[in-house]
Amino acid sequence: EKGGYEHFMLKEIHEQPKGLEDTLNKRLKDGNIINLDGINMTKKDIEGFNKVYIVACGTAYHAGLVGKAAIEKMARIPVEVDVASEFRYRDPFVDESTLFIAISQSGETLDTLAALREAKSKGARILSVVNVVGSSVARESDDVFYTWAGPEISVASTKAYTTQLMCMYLLALYMGKEKGTIDGTYYAKVIEELKTIPEKLQHILDKEGDIEKLADIFYKREQVFFIGRGPDSGVAYEGSLKLKEISYINSFAIAAGELKHGTIALIEDDTLVIALATQDALFEKMVSNVEEIKARGARVIAIAKEGNTEIEKKADIVIYIPQCMDELTPLLSVVPLQLFAYFVAKNRGCNIDKPKNLAKSVTVE
Ligand code: M6R
Repeated sequence: EKGGYEHFMLKEIHEQPKGLEDTLNKRLKDGNIINLDGINMTKKDIEGFNKVYIVACGTAYHAGLVGKAAIEKMARIPVEVDVASEFRYRDPFVDESTLFIAISQSGETLDTLAALREAKSKGARILSVVNVVGSSVARESDDVFYTWAGPEISVASTKAYTTQLMCMYLLALYMGKEKGTIDGTYYAKVIEELKTIPEKLQHILDKEGDIEKLADIFYKREQVFFIGRGPDSGVAYEGSLKLKEISYINSFAIAAGELKHGTIALIEDDTLVIALATQDALFEKMVSNVEEIKARGARVIAIAKEGNTEIEKKADIVIYIPQCMDELTPLLSVVPLQLFAYFVAKNRGCNIDKPKNLAKSVTVE
């Protein structure tokens, strides 16, 4: 059932090209027209939304952080992302002109379901991004945007995350096109790039041996930091969660610009920092963040796009991902982090598919 892989997690990491292709193909017709069949969202509805809330837990919440960046950029609507357990108790500003998006792999996470009910009672339009067909979140939503990841068994979520991102990009793009906040050229460019993602992701998987070697070097670490800017900061949170939940290493993620407001005090000789530097628009800023931490002795692994070799002068090790638009890099940059977490946990002899204290679906508060 593990298809020749030692763990479900590794199998599911490898299923990502297929999951992304399926999620994309379900929504494309005639080559590059996004069809939201089954989702009731007219141009008038979209123009009427003055706010979007994205609410989720854990990895799905991290997908929401990237989704926020995409919706704000493409559809120019303010988006707030919140963890479900906070949202449900804070009397949020929700009304009939709010679009509420719940993201959940299982569709059974209690806090997410309760947040959805809260938003619904206040009149919001409820759209959910869900993997399990017919789950509670799916049933209680006005509309469902399914991820086509297939069953995810490993407690650590991987393919659900990347397919959630794909849904968020398609949604943002659709909304932007209907609202007229993006033009046809940009739209076509993003669609063309999305189509290339499965192949590019496969390219990263083909080189997983490189990541395994890094894990062999660093698996005994007691703490690891993850930093990034813009969409990379969302990926930093996800990479950190993946590592801590399966390897039990104390890992911490922070927006790179926030480092010097406190956390940099923890950087000392040989502290391991994974720096995501995939954004062309923020590349120079990341280079200076890497300089700052190097000056305090950090050991830095950077993730950058192929061709952005300037980072090699600053970081100790660079992992390259294939070239792609800044907006879409999270679909690729998370993969080396998933693999790193996996191989580190394996070297540490951890129970990868069923980490201690965790359940696949959290149906209690
Ligand atoms: O089923 P859901 O997507 O609602 O689950 C949300 C979180 O419990 C889940 O993503 C959790 O954080 C994973 N263990 C992360 O790998």
